[in-house]
Amino acid sequence: MVEIIQISDLHYDSEFREDCFENIINYVAENKPDIVVCTGDVVHKGRVVQFRKVLEYLNRIKDITRFMAVPGNHDAKNSGLVFFEKIIGPRRSRIILKEKDAIIVGICSARDDVAYGEIGDEQLDWIGRCFDQNIEDRVIALHHHLIPIPMSGQKFTTVRDAGEILEFTNLFEIDLVLMGHRHVPHAYTISWKNSSSTTFLYSGTSTSNKVRADDSPSFNHIFLNKGDLEVYIVNSINLKKTLLLERKEHHTEFIRPRKTRIEHLLASKVWDE
Ligand SMILES: [Fe+2]
Repeated sequence: MVEIIQISDLHYDSEFREDCFENIINYVAENKPDIVVCTGDVVHKGRVVQFRKVLEYLNRIKDITRFMAVPGNHDAKNSGLVFFEKIIGPRRSRIILKEKDAIIVGICSARDDVAYGEIGDEQLDWIGRCFDQNIEDRVIALHHHLIPIPMSGQKFTTVRDAGEILEFTNLFEIDLVLMGHRHVPHAYTISWKNSSSTTFLYSGTSTSNKVRADDSPSFNHIFLNKGDLEVYIVNSINLKKTLLLERKEHHTEFIRPRKTRIEHLLASKVWDE
């Protein structure tokens, strides 16, 4: 079994919450997951000084366990991608946990100064080679959304070539795709015809007040075991842990962490006659 903590959208230097980051470091120290994965927007404006300062926090996580980060659109502002690579880590990376029979591949969907995401043929070719081996538990991490999610504001900032990656997750039997970007915790599972399943898991912002609706900053605690999956959403303010999703033998139960738009509309009575 591989244990992953997914943090995301730290947005260092804008509505950043130091108390949440301290809580996350304590939680990681207590649980000692196999890896912590950050799905982008490590900093708010891609500035060198922001990357240097957030690194002080990230180094404390790196002292406890393995760490991987992928860049987000905010990291790519002001030519930030080159500094992300210099200070935080490579813009795409592959970690194989041999003893856990697991592989986690991080890809860069961010482009200089634009909000949308793109993967491109060269990177698609690279992930094809990464997953062309016999490893049981298979995870991809990226910043942007492959599938839009509800109550998340602008929907046009998804991955432009999302279709290629969605098809890839089927062909290469990817168990789990981790995403951030719109600061909304959510999940979808697709059960494919070849009897594999892929769960698309979205994290909220873990360390900022840039939440949507009445959400709290949060992160995801994930247990992946030969295709079975258990995901908990953890509130970054009080570390309250709630089951978000359970997938067993391709049957998935998803416990929605927030009210749906239609529930809000029906309760509002705005359009009552
Ligand atoms: Fe963000």
